[in-house]
This record gives sequence, C-alpha cells and structure tokens, in this order.
Amino acid sequence: MNTKIISVTEEEEGQDRIYREASERIKQGGLVAFPTETVYGLGANGLDEEAAAKIYAAKGRPSDNPLILHIAEVEQLEKIVRCIPDAAKKMIETYWPGPLTIVFEKADCVPYGTTGGLETVAVRMPDHIVARRLIKESGVPIAAPSANRSGRPSPTKASHVVEDLFGKVDLILDGGMVGIGLESTIVDVTVTPPVILRPGYITQEMLTALLKQEIRLDPAFLQGIAADVKPKAPGMKYRHYAPKADLVIVEGSPYHAAKKIAELAAKQAAEGKRVGIIGTKEFQDDYQTGLVKIIGTREEEETIAHNLYHILREFDEAQVDIIYSEGFPEDHFGQAIMNRLEKAAGNKIIKLSDEARTRDASFS
Ligand code: TXA
Ligand code: MG
Repeated sequence: MNTKIISVTEEEEGQDRIYREASERIKQGGLVAFPTETVYGLGANGLDEEAAAKIYAAKGRPSDNPLILHIAEVEQLEKIVRCIPDAAKKMIETYWPGPLTIVFEKADCVPYGTTGGLETVAVRMPDHIVARRLIKESGVPIAAPSANRSGRPSPTKASHVVEDLFGKVDLILDGGMVGIGLESTIVDVTVTPPVILRPGYITQEMLTALLKQEIRLDPAFLQGIAADVKPKAPGMKYRHYAPKADLVIVEGSPYHAAKKIAELAAKQAAEGKRVGIIGTKEFQDDYQTGLVKIIGTREEEETIAHNLYHILREFDEAQVDIIYSEGFPEDHFGQAIMNRLEKAAGNKIIKLSDEARTRDASFS
C-alpha cells in the first residue's frame, strides 16, 4: 500500500484540501493516522466493521482488544451509547474535550468488530485541532488505537508512526510532536462507583474531587498485572512494550536512586556492557558512565511523560544492553508515568531500603 504523509498545522485556514482528502479516506473505509493531544491515533470509521478490521491487521493487534471511538461533539455520543450516567455527565462537562476516555454500555449501531466483542464502548473527545476537524469532516466516530505496531511504545511524533506503519496505512497526518505523550485516562462508568482502567493525565485525585466519591483503580494494576488478575481494559493484560535491552527501575529517595544507578552503570560498563540511563535534570551530574538521556525535570512531571516513549524508542536504536531508570512518585500524574514505565520494565524494580529513604528525606 502507498502511504501518503501530509504535514498539517494548527491553523484553520488553507488546509481544506488536506481535510477533504483525509475525511474521504475515512468515509471510504481507509486508514488515517493523526495526532491527538495524548499520542498519535490510527483512525478508521468506527461504525464500519471492515474498516476496523484493517486497524487490527495494520497494528498486528489481537482482535479481543477493543478500540476507542473518537468524537468531536457530545451529540455524537448520544447515538453510540445506551445511556449517559450522571457521573459521566460531570466528567464530560469538566474534562471533554481532553485526555479522558469513558466506557459506556454500547448502542446497537456500534459493531462488535470495534468493541472486541464487548457490550461496552470506550469513547473520547480529543482536544487537538487536527483530530477534531478530521472527525467533524468525516461525519462518523473514528475508532483509533495508538498508531504503533502492537508491542511498540505509542507514537508521540509522526516519524514514530512512519517507523511502525509505513506501507500499512493510507495517510499519515503529521502535526508535529504531541503535547502529553501518554495515552488517555480510561474510566468505566458502567459500574458504581466508576473505576479507572488505565491511569493518565486526568488523575484519580482529580476524578475523586469532581465526583466527591472515591474513584478506585482497577485492582489489576495494583498487583502489577499478575497472570491470575484479569484487567477490565483488555489491552492492559498484554505486556505492552518491552525494550530490546533489560530495563530496570531504581526506586527510593531520588538522591539515593541516582547514586545507585551511577554505581550500577559503572559496574556494568566495567564488565563491557553498553549501559543506558534514564535520569532527571536534577541528577544529570551524577551520571558519568553510559548513554544518558535526560527525560525531564522532577519539578514538572509533564516533561517526564512527554519524553518517555521517544526515549524508549531511541534506546532501541542505540542497542544498549541494559537501561537503568530513576523511579517517580506514584501519585497524581506520576501514577500513569510509573504504570507505563513498570510495564516497559516488566516489573524489574530495585527498591532501595526504607532506611536509605528516611535517612535522606531532605533530598527527596
Ligand atoms: O490517548 C488515547 O487513548 C489514544 C489516542 C489515540 O486517543 N488511544 C489509545 O488507544 O491509547 P489504545 O487502543 O492503544 O488503547 C485503548 C485501551 C486498550 O487497553 C483497550 O483494551 C481499552 O482501551 N478499551 C477499549 N475499549 C474498552 C472497553 N469497552 N472496555 C474496557 N477497556 C476498553
Ligand atoms: Mg495502544
């Protein structure tokens, strides 16, 4: 298949031809990759089972893993779900458009080929000019998983989509690097109280404050996706992405973790291993050995989320043998960051002793 790549800007003007072409592709059952505020999506008409099947084929995705339907207006939601519970209404008012996906009971018009056979459907209204205009002009909800090959990190730039899907999709809209860099939060409102199936930029704390009740995380997360606990978001059971090299997270006070990483890196390097380090700006001077990638600053965890996936891709290219990463606090947005990092590490974590943590509370 010929894959066309077109650059789009966030300007409204002068791009009519691009959107006309892209929306025609969608209407005709084709595949169009496009930027959203979280990660790039691989879009197709979500009400067309055959079009959805092409998504699974292009990604190499298991067919029991359902797709998120992307909409541009709330009126579209009413057509694809059975009912909108009060909790969802509040979330929509506050966080749509935005990085929040809500799981509802599906209406009959949504094919099982989109929902992986489930009676529920996940819906999101993205907050990105390109995504919204594409959905509006297509006139249908757009089913879109992250635009990576199954088992690769989600794409945060169009070049990542090209790496994974060139020749497998009709069109890639290149809108530059995305803002957030991690996939949306998923909340299931078909149960009371609602449950978070995947943590993201809209945090557990934000939803708890909004709904004035405790919103819990699907227990499957807390137990590190053990084989016998089935996550409610089918996609979360797959070992999403494993870097080619072993990835080890070092947790403890940031100060001690950085010292430990530097020590482990020096030891591995002395044995002739090629070492990678994922560290924060605060501790960059500690790292003297190995290929060091500064992921962001602890003062702004958004920077860490923004850079995580493209750094993991860069390490695959660099062909290191082992990667050490600093760990991050698991509250607020950190919950999502650690969820993705732990999955990439296959839960290989070195926890420094509590003694070291308390001794060094002043540095954390
Ligand atoms: O930020 C995002 O959500 C991005 C952009 C493109 O919008 N999309 C994305 O899609 O991350 P995907 O397919 O990579 O991840 C969707 C997740 C999967 O883990 C899937 O199992 C879960 O959502 N999911 C979809 N429909 C569901 C449903 N009805 N019930 C439970 N989980 C569902
Ligand atoms: Mg994905």
